Amino acid sequence: MKITVIGTGYVGLVTGTCLAETGNDVICIDIDQKKVEMMQEGIVPIYEPHLDVLFERNIKAGRLTFSTSLDKGLEFGDIIFLALPTPEDEDGSADLSYVLGVADEIGKKIKEYKVIVDKSTVPVGTAEKVYQTIAKNATCEFDVVSNPEFLREGYAVDDFLKPERIVVGSSSERAIKLMKKLYGPFMRSGNPIIIMDEKSAELTKYAANASLATKITFMNEIANYCEKVGADVDKVRVGMGTDSRIGKRFLFPGIGYGGSCFPKDVKALQKAGKDQSYDFKILNSVIEVNEKQKTILLPKIENYFKGDLTNKKLAIWGLAFKPETDDVREAPAIYLMRELLNKGASLSVYDPEAIPNIRKQFGDTLSYCNSMYEALDSSDALVICTEWSIFRTPDFQEVKKRLNTPMIFDGRNLYDVEEVKKEGFNYVSIGR
Ligand SMILES: NC(=O)c1ccc[n+]([C@@H]2O[C@H](COP(=O)([O-])OP(=O)(O)OC[C@H]3O[C@@H](n4cnc5c(N)ncnc54)[C@H](O)[C@@H]3O)[C@@H](O)[C@H]2O)c1
Repeated sequence: MKITVIGTGYVGLVTGTCLAETGNDVICIDIDQKKVEMMQEGIVPIYEPHLDVLFERNIKAGRLTFSTSLDKGLEFGDIIFLALPTPEDEDGSADLSYVLGVADEIGKKIKEYKVIVDKSTVPVGTAEKVYQTIAKNATCEFDVVSNPEFLREGYAVDDFLKPERIVVGSSSERAIKLMKKLYGPFMRSGNPIIIMDEKSAELTKYAANASLATKITFMNEIANYCEKVGADVDKVRVGMGTDSRIGKRFLFPGIGYGGSCFPKDVKALQKAGKDQSYDFKILNSVIEVNEKQKTILLPKIENYFKGDLTNKKLAIWGLAFKPETDDVREAPAIYLMRELLNKGASLSVYDPEAIPNIRKQFGDTLSYCNSMYEALDSSDALVICTEWSIFRTPDFQEVKKRLNTPMIFDGRNLYDVEEVKKEGFNYVSIGR
């Protein structure tokens, strides 16, 4: 099939590349000329494990191309994916201007039947808005499908190639048939394509993300309470997780959720509820608790330095909002580092992939290091913000040698408390 993907970010590029991998001809359109030029030169503009191999292979095979020309994209594809940003607007709602702006262009430009597939995360009723926006000017038939994306950054290729489910929201038999054909090769292990109406598909995505954010936040509260009463959240987590109704995953406490999805999606659902005079009380609390959790290490650090962080140097391990990505949008590390800088500390930072993106925000207010150990040199403590695998088994004696004092603040509970203490460290983590 001939596919156009409009918006070539984390979702769009993975979608385009993986659809090319199953033999489709794909053109990816993006407004960012620099990004398109990079891709045309064969450079993957984001860090996403395993994407490069597929990217190269499909470019070489001539199945994957890139352009800034929307006209070209709209002429090319039978199916047009919208993988455009839906960032948080000032009032917390999802900003639909990217999606509706492109929809307006689509209406003016399509000349034959197309299926417009919304992959962006959008509030209930957006498919209808997209439909109306296109219909204003369209002179041919078209369908609009809601097809929310569930991939996780860091595992995006695997998630796309072997999805647990595909959700398709549509009332058009013609569009559903095409979507089933397109996704057939990814569903061979028996995972379902779930067909539903557009509104339910749109809400499924928000409900899933809000549910996951709530699960993390609940564990963060349990962890905070553990600290008050001397319980160990790791033991509680294992004990709880063996209950199949709860499950083992997403029970790890830390310094809050971040990223380009959970924070904005939880707020957008909260705001969408308000617009219908529905007060999502759980979401109000999730947002409030998570705000606090992002800087939960701050009082612990201040306490250790007796309230004075001036002239203190701290090493930060991990800047991305989670491991295996260079994405720093809403990363908890950003919030903590801002507070630490405000209090007069200087910071030496290391992340395997996210330094270029952090540099765009922090400029020369941070000292950027080439290795995790370099960040420790003459630092007064180590602060861990992201659970990259390489931080899991450090050479503790090397860490000790390089730090001024053997002090670790661990926002991701990477180490066994007793073992780190045996290595001669003061160790503060979350809920233990
Ligand atoms: N990142 C994730 O893990 C993830 C997962 C599931 C769903 N989503 C949702 O998918 C959508 C896209 O997210 P993302 O993380 O890929 O965003 P992104 O910011 O990484 O990418 C969006 C891309 O769209 C381009 N763009 C903006 N306006 C354009 C226009 N008018 N024409 C063409 N291109 C344009 C931007 O230049 C950018 O490259 C959002 O709604 C998001 O909530 C994201």
